Amino acid sequence: MDQTHSSPILPSSLMIYLVLSVLVTLVFAQDYSIPTQWLNTTSSLSRDSRVQLAKQFYTTLGSSYDGNSGQIPSLGIGQNANMLSATAIHDSIVPDGQTSNYNVTSDRFSRAISSLVPAQGGFSNDPMMWGLTAVYAYRAYQQRPFLAYAIQIWETYTPWVISEADAAKGSHPLKNFTFPSECNGSSISGGVFWRIDPGNQGDSGIIAGGEGAYMAYDRLVKPIHFPC
Ligand SMILES: *[C@@H]1O[C@H](CO)[C@@H](O)[C@H](O)[C@H]1NC(C)=O
Ligand SMILES: *[C@@H]1O[C@H](CO)[C@@H](O)[C@H](O)[C@H]1NC(C)=O
Ligand SMILES: *[C@@H]1O[C@H](CO)[C@@H](O)[C@H](O)[C@H]1NC(C)=O
Ligand SMILES: *[C@@H]1O[C@H](CO)[C@@H](O)[C@H](O)[C@H]1NC(C)=O
Repeated sequence: MDQTHSSPILPSSLMIYLVLSVLVTLVFAQDYSIPTQWLNTTSSLSRDSRVQLAKQFYTTLGSSYDGNSGQIPSLGIGQNANMLSATAIHDSIVPDGQTSNYNVTSDRFSRAISSLVPAQGGFSNDPMMWGLTAVYAYRAYQQRPFLAYAIQIWETYTPWVISEADAAKGSHPLKNFTFPSECNGSSISGGVFWRIDPGNQGDSGIIAGGEGAYMAYDRLVKPIHFPC
């Protein structure tokens, strides 16, 4: 398990506080439009310089990958997903990226999801980050296995989202506790539980990493999965 997963040892009251804090933040973020100030960045470096820096970054880290596991051993599971996402995003904006990096990215992706993600059974956050990686990889390389994986992850974890109806009722069909339908005057719909195994029906934890991944993922997968 990733060392960042410290939540289970927290007392339940603190856990609930943390959960509600995350939910409050989420609720106020339920306008899913991208804030306009995020659309443009400012940098004193040219675009080419920034692309070059990105390339140096992943080329340098490339020597740290373990050939068998497809991961950088010193990084956590989610961080490894983010690394590969960054490579795929790079490849989708740089003209020769798709051809020069596809093989290695694809190989690392396959190895990582076969060795790491199943070991995460029962947790939603790391697999969702790998699902997000699959979306970026599909956009960069247009290979169906990435899309298939992204859809599989999205379908697996969507049942653990607190829907508007669940929030209104104050309960979730896969959890055995009730919760306030509102927090600080706002609905708590949109949260995603991080423990998804039947043995943890009583676990109310929601972890920001999985939550953020799901929000990004939901926006990215739906348009691909359900093209209008
Ligand atoms: C972002 O940059 C584009 C092109 O330079 C410009 O047209 C647009 O108004 C800018 N948007 C924001 C939110 O600053
Ligand atoms: C990628 O792998 C394919 C099939 O093994 C091979 O034909 C191709 O040359 C490789 N491309 C690169 C850029 O290594
Ligand atoms: C509750 O909402 C008020 C008004 O928006 C805000 O000032 C306050 O920080 C919120 N409390 C929490 C715990 O988020
Ligand atoms: C809910 O599930 C937990 C296991 O996660 C269990 O310990 C607890 O007793 C259950 N509570 C109820 C009300 O069934």
